[in-house]
Amino acid sequence: MKITFLLNGETVELAEADPTATLLDWLREDRGLTGTKEGCNEGDCGACTVSVSDGDGTRAMNACILFLPQLHGKAVRTVEGLGGTHPAQQAMVDHHGSQCGFCTPGFVMSMVAAHAEGATDHDTQLAGNLCRCTGYAPIIRAARAVEDAPKPDWLATDRAFISPEILRGEAAGRGAEPPSAPTSSNELAALYEAHPDATLVAGATDVGLWVTKQLRDLPKVIFLSGCADLNRIEITDSHVRLGAMVDMNRMRDTVAPLHPSYGEMIRRYASVQVRNAATVGGNIANGSPIGDNPPALIALGATLHLRKGDARRDLPLEEFFLDYGKQDRAPGEFVEAVSFPRQPDRLKCYKLSKRFDQDISAVLGCFNITVEGGTVTAARIAFGGMAGIPKRARAVEAALIGQPWTQETVTAALPAFEADFTPMSDMRASALYRMETAKALLSRYFAEDQGHMANVLEVRA
Ligand SMILES: Cc1cc2nc3c(=O)[nH]c(=O)nc-3n(C[C@H](O)[C@H](O)[C@H](O)COP(=O)(O)OP(=O)(O)OC[C@H]3O[C@@H](n4cnc5c(N)ncnc54)[C@H](O)[C@@H]3O)c2cc1C
Ligand code: FES
Ligand code: FES
Repeated sequence: MKITFLLNGETVELAEADPTATLLDWLREDRGLTGTKEGCNEGDCGACTVSVSDGDGTRAMNACILFLPQLHGKAVRTVEGLGGTHPAQQAMVDHHGSQCGFCTPGFVMSMVAAHAEGATDHDTQLAGNLCRCTGYAPIIRAARAVEDAPKPDWLATDRAFISPEILRGEAAGRGAEPPSAPTSSNELAALYEAHPDATLVAGATDVGLWVTKQLRDLPKVIFLSGCADLNRIEITDSHVRLGAMVDMNRMRDTVAPLHPSYGEMIRRYASVQVRNAATVGGNIANGSPIGDNPPALIALGATLHLRKGDARRDLPLEEFFLDYGKQDRAPGEFVEAVSFPRQPDRLKCYKLSKRFDQDISAVLGCFNITVEGGTVTAARIAFGGMAGIPKRARAVEAALIGQPWTQETVTAALPAFEADFTPMSDMRASALYRMETAKALLSRYFAEDQGHMANVLEVRA
């Protein structure tokens, strides 16, 4: 596949790019740029962080799970491209932020991207970078020291890069046969209908691992990153509609003002690097029982918008998840968007994981309960990690609706969790833990709603 991007200020044209070659392998093996390190090769450690810029800004991304075609038309900068002169590099020296140095280029590139964007929430910005020797305090001190430093000269060039194909009105990597990179959802619809056996690649935060960890060959791939119309966010008085290619950081910026608890939950979704790649469409389409968006969206009453060729259909999001690994999606059909109604904010999302940051949910409980005149008039409750699919707690909802919103009602509804769920034990949590915490989360929702938390402990006891 033909692709073009800017690497450290130099235009790179690859006439025959392997569509599933990762940027990390290409940098290290083809270009000899070994400053970008390989740690985990699965998006967890941040040693491979590079900055990727376009007209929308500069983002830290994990090179180990970025396929080369995802970079088409963008500007990549590695630690070598800083020329040793970026203030983040000096700050790491001044504040003793490095010992063995293996993690250091990744930390520096995360700081470079945060500095470019003016981001000063350093714990969040650096949560996707792991260091096993230094300890994080000196590194955070270094990041703070860079906040007011002037922006590097190369930043404007990186952000202004437009590929020669785009200037000529062409689109590289486009074609009637996968591998291909359609530039609109119409092109995608035609291509995927003709090749339903192709693998769709959105942010590649799942698909990337199929290649790097499972060593799978993906002979036919279709990249969605060029489909600009799938990136749209629409907010009207009645609804919010998110295109399938909206990434998790834009998703968070959209939902946080409307439903702060949802925004906070997404802040704990993986890391900045993964959130800059992972898309809302991929997080739904993969059907994972522990994906973070589906329970929150189900609790908000979301509708999924699917498309196959010219045919479109909508369905309540919870109906998309049929069974473990099985979704209501026909061959050649793809997720176009998801939407949810505007509503007063009653949503609470509780993500429980072994680590606070950068960890997959063991249990995710999302509650959206309406109380009018002291009585529960509507309830939408959905969980991740409690079944083989993201699942609504319909028995619990039924036990609440029509009842007075009191501790007695909540306590009486708790056994209904056993009718809704039979969780399993795995490396993240035991079945017992999952069941007990799910019940406790309803109690917590009630206690928070009443302005006191002591009841949670009473109910747990
Ligand atoms: C380090 C790390 C941490 C993670 N942490 C979390 C976490 O905290 N919470 C969480 O929920 N997930 C987490 N994930 C999982 C992953 O980020 C999500 O599942 C992600 O949303 C997938 O989106 P993507 O755009 O990267 O999808 P891709 O990897 O590109 O695709 C995933 C699947 O969806 C299909 N697909 C993609 N787009 C469409 C579409 N529009 N229509 C139909 N099919 C499509 C693909 O063919 C593939 O089968 C993590 C992943 C990594 C690597
Ligand atoms: S090598 Fe660990 S995130 Fe890429
Ligand atoms: S300095 Fe050794 S891993 Fe961070």
